[in-house]
Amino acid sequence: MKKRRMDFRVRWSGLEELYEEGKVRAIGVDNFTQDRMADFLFFQKVRPAVNMIECNTYFQREKEAEYLKQQNITMQAWSPLAAGQKNLLEDPVLCEIAKAHEKSVAQIVLHWLVQRGIVPVVKSVNPKRMKENLDIFDFELTADEMERIRQLDTEHSYATSRDTGKAVTEFLEAAMSYQV
Ligand SMILES: NC(=O)c1ccc[n+]([C@@H]2O[C@H](COP(=O)([O-])OP(=O)(O)OC[C@H]3O[C@@H](n4cnc5c(N)ncnc54)[C@H](OP(=O)(O)O)[C@@H]3O)[C@@H](O)[C@H]2O)c1
Repeated sequence: MKKRRMDFRVRWSGLEELYEEGKVRAIGVDNFTQDRMADFLFFQKVRPAVNMIECNTYFQREKEAEYLKQQNITMQAWSPLAAGQKNLLEDPVLCEIAKAHEKSVAQIVLHWLVQRGIVPVVKSVNPKRMKENLDIFDFELTADEMERIRQLDTEHSYATSRDTGKAVTEFLEAAMSYQV
């Protein structure tokens, strides 16, 4: 017989309990598109404080950002530098803006997210780059620069999208196989 797996809503109830008992200050989710989020919010007691989704200059998620803002849920961006793919760090527009501000392209992209009200979750194993990635709060991008970056949006993920039933099932089977 097929083993019953624990649905994420059951796990969320556990997190809600911890939140209500004051044992954790905030609880959140990741990879919720707005259709899933609207459904989730309708049935849950505690709203997620954050939703972490893929977002970078080539996949800007404007509609998702707008929806999360309306719902007062903080948007976090995973792979803000597109995980080093798509030559994001060599993009000519970003290089030009970086030069104008005497910053690196990574700093421009991270600041661009912050200026949009989005929290970047960037990964680095290099202490020099970790420091660089935090040094992004001493400049502002102009409206023209924001618009030039907006035009880089391809509206496509660099990562595999899970927008079919087959893709979701395969993802869940792989994810469940890691659980103890
Ligand atoms: N929730 C989810 O579904 C999900 C999915 C994917 C990722 N994530 C999380 O999101 C976080 C970031 O995503 P990610 O690692 O995929 O992509 P990322 O942060 O966009 O890119 C990481 C890559 O960029 C390099 N890098 C970092 N800072 C740099 C800088 N200042 N200059 C040049 N290169 C720089 C890193 O190399 P070095 O390490 O050598 O500096 C690494 O190769 C991770 O913690 C990951 O676990 C979550």
